[in-house]
Amino acid sequence: MSKHVSSRRKTILDIQKLKGATPVVVLTAYTAPMARLLDEHVDILLVGDSLGMVLYGMESTLPVSLDIMIAHGRAVVKASKSAAVVVDMPFGSYQGSKEVAFNACARVIKETGCQAVKIEGGAEMAETIKFLTERGIPVMGHIALMPQHVNTLGGYRHQGRTEEERKKLMKDALAIEKAGAFSMVIECAEESLAREITGKVSMCTIGIGASPKCDGQVLVTEDMLGLTDVAPKFVKQYANVGAAVSKAAAQYASEVRARKFPTLGHCFSKK
Ligand code: KIV
Repeated sequence: MSKHVSSRRKTILDIQKLKGATPVVVLTAYTAPMARLLDEHVDILLVGDSLGMVLYGMESTLPVSLDIMIAHGRAVVKASKSAAVVVDMPFGSYQGSKEVAFNACARVIKETGCQAVKIEGGAEMAETIKFLTERGIPVMGHIALMPQHVNTLGGYRHQGRTEEERKKLMKDALAIEKAGAFSMVIECAEESLAREITGKVSMCTIGIGASPKCDGQVLVTEDMLGLTDVAPKFVKQYANVGAAVSKAAAQYASEVRARKFPTLGHCFSKK
């Protein structure tokens, strides 16, 4: 058993202990087969609302519903046994008030069995994060580029370019930490800012398009496997699974058309 595989499922305390020791490895997983493959290699499986775009072909993450997140969260928890599972709260399910957020997050925790939820937002979400953590819901924060804010941010541009933006993001990180978040995704931020935030906070920062100095890293699995059409600049492609799928499908199609598949060996007969 690799030293990163746990005989029991990792908890958020295990993740917190990694700060300053070992980088936290996070990948997204939306389905049971992917969760089964990734589980032994990662500390956290993130059921990201990016599934709206990656799996469902949506234009943004905004249309993703709570029911969709719960269905995928449940599948990922069921198919994994070592990694902590964090489920993203979808747009509109937690911003209304801290009570609305609690009810939605409690549903996710109860119906999926996940260890924590992730919510996007900075200082404006601090009161909600405090309310949730005080009531037994561990929260991973998410600052800088927040895809659920695409309309107010005016696109998917990287954050922390001006002194004003840097100050705001540092304030956001400190507010989330004070509110009790156990870790925080920093997405598409200036590298020096992500590094500075990581040095200032005692929780684990998880970078994506951020800095090698973050306490951990996350990628969308389909991006790093070559299964998405266009991957952002910060993605390293570790395999070309898309090409392998296409090659297999082409061979299958050609064998079916040539009546080479199935053979009698693939069929049932009395003898
Ligand atoms: O939705 C998602 O997959 C995410 C990660 C990219 C951090 O939020």
